[in-house]
Amino acid sequence: MVYKIAVFASGSGSNFEALAKQTKEGKIRNSEIALLITDKEGVYALERAKKYDIPSVSFTPKNFADKKEYEEAVLKVLEEYNIDFVILAGYMRLVGEVLLSRYEGKMINIHPSLLPAFKGKDAIAMALDYGVKYTGVTIHWVDSGMDTGKIIAQEIVKIENGETYETLAQKIHKVEHKLYPQTVDKLLGGE
Ligand code: GRF
Repeated sequence: MVYKIAVFASGSGSNFEALAKQTKEGKIRNSEIALLITDKEGVYALERAKKYDIPSVSFTPKNFADKKEYEEAVLKVLEEYNIDFVILAGYMRLVGEVLLSRYEGKMINIHPSLLPAFKGKDAIAMALDYGVKYTGVTIHWVDSGMDTGKIIAQEIVKIENGETYETLAQKIHKVEHKLYPQTVDKLLGGE
């Protein structure tokens, strides 16, 4: 079986690209990145999708009456593409009932901290401000909360003296681009 995966992103899409590249290289087995969904027009993730010849669909949630209608439109596209599994990668939005009722247990997210510490936006800056000496990356199942689902994988990133936001963000992204593809391969690539 080849799993058809949709990646959801809101911005740069560097994790999307790592997943697309490593799928193409066969490092994520039994899987095809079949679709990119964004909740913004014109974001850089869409350029990356063109580069990998992956179809993409952009939504503007405020053009819908409410979250339910927005997610129903997204769900329709996922069904058109026969999507089996959803990977959130920098998708800056809570997932609601419509998508969860179809994809709970088949939807994962990546977060740039060691959850349950530093949930929500700006986790990298929060860790630096707090002065913790270790932070990291977490991959977890998606539920209706903000970064609350059960944890699948974590990796530690050490915060050195004199670390800046830029150096830490770079270290975290490097770990993300390795850990996310590895985790997807473990989940979907086995027997
Ligand atoms: C990543 O740091 C991820 O952990 C967080 O949002 C960021 C997305 O970066 N959820 P990118 O768009 O994949 O470059």
